[in-house]
Amino acid sequence: MPPAIGRMDYLTFKMLHLGCVVTSYALFLLRGLWMMFSPEWLHRRWVRIVPHVVDTVLLGSAMAMASMIRQYPFVAGWLTAKLLALLLYIVLGSVALKRGRTTKQRAVAWLAAQAVFFYIVAVALTRSPLPWAPGWGVAPLQIAPAGMVPVSR
Ligand code: HEM
Repeated sequence: MPPAIGRMDYLTFKMLHLGCVVTSYALFLLRGLWMMFSPEWLHRRWVRIVPHVVDTVLLGSAMAMASMIRQYPFVAGWLTAKLLALLLYIVLGSVALKRGRTTKQRAVAWLAAQAVFFYIVAVALTRSPLPWAPGWGVAPLQIAPAGMVPVSR
């Protein structure tokens, strides 16, 4: 495969992943605000469907990239951290938007979910399960897929 194609494929998945990250966060922020101020919005059909589609594409693009750079959850620490934190984000998100008994409980879960979300972003940017100690991370050079020209960041 010519290097240019390999590079484009990976970057396409990365752009898709990033687009889903931004959309997923925006929708979660909005749904939290609706939960507190106008819960009837949460029952709209598109509000019940679109976030699941976005999150599925987010995970799909993540898996595609992970296999292209041959780094996998439960093998590479930073991807294990991302996956486990994603599960926590999902649980907190469901308490925030559905299972929480009181508005206060839901609001606390909504804020905690956002903290977890930003932890995941920090793990992605440092490629370290401990983003505050990035020395633990994987250097960008090591995760460049075949055919991709590593760039210093
Ligand atoms: C809410 C969940 C997630 C968020 C917010 C998120 C966020 C991000 C961000 C911001 C980047 C770009 C990093 C950069 O530009 O250097 C990224 C890249 C990436 N993410 Fe995720 N991610 C999530 C879930 C996952 C999961 C579950 C996996 C895999 C198990 C994953 C695998 C990857 C991979 C392989 C890259 C590419 C790394 C690179 O080429 O630098 N992501 N993610």
